[in-house]
Amino acid sequence: MSIVVFGANGRTGQLLVRQALDRGMAVTAVTRRPGDFPIDDGNLTVERADVFDPAAVERAVAGHDAVISALGVPYSRREITVYSRGMANILAAMRATGVRRVVSISATAVDPRYDNQGGYVFERVLKPLISRTMGRTTYADQRLMEGLLRDSDLDWTVIRPSGLFETDAVTDYVVTEGFITGKFTSRSDLADAMLRELGEQAHVRAAVAVATVSVRPNLVRMIMREAFHRADPPPPTAGEQRAA
Ligand SMILES: NC(=O)c1ccc[n+]([C@@H]2O[C@H](COP(=O)([O-])OP(=O)(O)OC[C@H]3O[C@@H](n4cnc5c(N)ncnc54)[C@H](OP(=O)(O)O)[C@@H]3O)[C@@H](O)[C@H]2O)c1
Repeated sequence: MSIVVFGANGRTGQLLVRQALDRGMAVTAVTRRPGDFPIDDGNLTVERADVFDPAAVERAVAGHDAVISALGVPYSRREITVYSRGMANILAAMRATGVRRVVSISATAVDPRYDNQGGYVFERVLKPLISRTMGRTTYADQRLMEGLLRDSDLDWTVIRPSGLFETDAVTDYVVTEGFITGKFTSRSDLADAMLRELGEQAHVRAAVAVATVSVRPNLVRMIMREAFHRADPPPPTAGEQRAA
């Protein structure tokens, strides 16, 4: 199977690429900074594309069996559009090139039933901080992205993780179409769950939640790292390079 991964240079994206190569897949990794991409493999192609550029997205998607999106941007109080506009361009490219299968990351906070039953501090302090303040514009755009997938005639799966953290390897995790109480998801488990969806096709045209069950992160450290994670600024455009 050949797949194209958007957001491939991100923290989940790199795990997705590594795990897909380990499964024998041919992978095209899409990034705005191919020179920084750390993985090298005979089955890997690294493609430069900004997801806001429809022509570049179409070039990246063409010729693959499936698309994976691990796109992400840091939380911001300003409007975020990368999820919805990026997915609109991906879906248009899929239709234009005859690719039907797409698996995309969203977030459990987008689920209208979002309720982790997490106790007083989690429910009254952390969750409002994350979903209504820090992450408000992120989740608004992810909601739009999910709507585009739902309204499409393609074979989509939305995967909603809870708070992301790192583990050295894939651990025990649960995937459910129903309500999930798990508050954390390891990025390795998230990548594994997405690739399994491609193989097993268990949740086509459905949104599922994924949560890690056997390991818990240090909550304070995890929140600080996610809250203050800053992506590098995007690379200069050709026009900016000429002007410099
Ligand atoms: N953090 C959490 O606790 C949490 C919880 C639930 C869901 N999520 C979701 O999980 C997903 C993955 O998160 P993550 O932290 O692993 O990702 P990440 O490290 O933030 O990486 C996201 C990648 O997206 C790429 N990207 C951003 N804008 C782009 C653009 N315009 N064109 C092309 N590529 C672009 C960037 O790659 P380049 O710069 O190389 O182009 C970046 O490396 C995100 O959708 C996030 O919202 C996160």
